[in-house]
Amino acid sequence: MKVLILAGGSGTRLWPASRETYPKQFLKLNGKKSLLQQTIERILKISSPEDIILLTNEQYKFHVLAELNEISENLTDKILLEPARRNTAPAIALGIKYCLERLSVEPSEVLFVCPSDHIIKPVEKFIEYVRLAEKVAKQGYLITFGIKPLYPETGYGYIKITGEDRGGYYPVERFTEKPNLETVKRFLSEGNYFWNSGMFAFTIETMIEELKLYAPEIYQLFNHPLEAMIANFHKMPDISIDYAVMEKSKKVVAIPMDIYWSDIGSWDSLYDVLEKDEKGNVILGNVLTKETEGSLIIGNKRLIATIDLKDLIIVETDDAILIAKKGSAQKVKHIVEELKAWN
Ligand code: GDD
Ligand code: MG
Repeated sequence: MKVLILAGGSGTRLWPASRETYPKQFLKLNGKKSLLQQTIERILKISSPEDIILLTNEQYKFHVLAELNEISENLTDKILLEPARRNTAPAIALGIKYCLERLSVEPSEVLFVCPSDHIIKPVEKFIEYVRLAEKVAKQGYLITFGIKPLYPETGYGYIKITGEDRGGYYPVERFTEKPNLETVKRFLSEGNYFWNSGMFAFTIETMIEELKLYAPEIYQLFNHPLEAMIANFHKMPDISIDYAVMEKSKKVVAIPMDIYWSDIGSWDSLYDVLEKDEKGNVILGNVLTKETEGSLIIGNKRLIATIDLKDLIIVETDDAILIAKKGSAQKVKHIVEELKAWN
């Protein structure tokens, strides 16, 4: 099994800490290591370094190199760079081409595709699910990994499974990427829906067949040798694997995971993930609090002092400060959108 780690996204939901120039996967949110470093360490428990390929954009090359150097020397030659940002479907197609052409991987080999912006625990349980996925993928399926939905999140894909347990995995009736709130609420009341955790497993030949069927523009460029594919990468459509293949394919199955999983999609979810002090605060950096409770306060360079506060999110960076009510952090995206219009 080869592993493609996707580390080229530009998540901005954690603004002002996460920006296009410094996206979420590089943030050290829950400890001394970034989400990307934690992902790599998790993957090294399932797979040896020579089976890992890290896919990222030209723009993030030095971030990724610096992070790899911090954790392991022998992975720096594992980076495959996309010359343009075209989202995950073209990135995965490029990773497949690289495996076939440069690493002489057989088309029947399984690929495990893994985002780099998640927290997953415990690792031992996660490894068992990946091992099961590897077996099931060999039967020609596209494996998704489901998480029991906790609330109506519109930032995820939703997987509807049939009731047919085939030994830890289920046929998928429908995969819907990022439905609107109304639809999400309907899904949750119907039941049998899972969040898509964003990880996938499939054999190379199965994915090539599905790209040929459902993403002909990508398939056409994929059919060229690696160098030509890279030279023409800017012609790829900008589309995620969820929209390009998972929503359309009839070969999708799901492994529901009973595991702790978070994609830290907002400051609220970071608050949920981190350990709180006796007043229910999560405090990072240089912060002095008086009568403050239930808050997430992240300082950077300046001292933050707070008095008589409850349930707030405060994030200070060099050039911007976010102050929000806890529970409203999803609305950060409106700020980011408005800022884009300013520039
Ligand atoms: N190499 C590369 N190139 N990686 C990319 C690119 C790209 O162009 N675009 C995104 N990525 C990486 C991101 O860094 C992240 O690790 C992963 O691919 C997923 O991309 P996101 O942009 O974070 O996707 P999402 O969070 O909106 O949605 C996906 O994940 C959700 C769970 O977190 C989907 O798969 C959803 O269905 C899923 O629920
Ligand atoms: Mg994500």
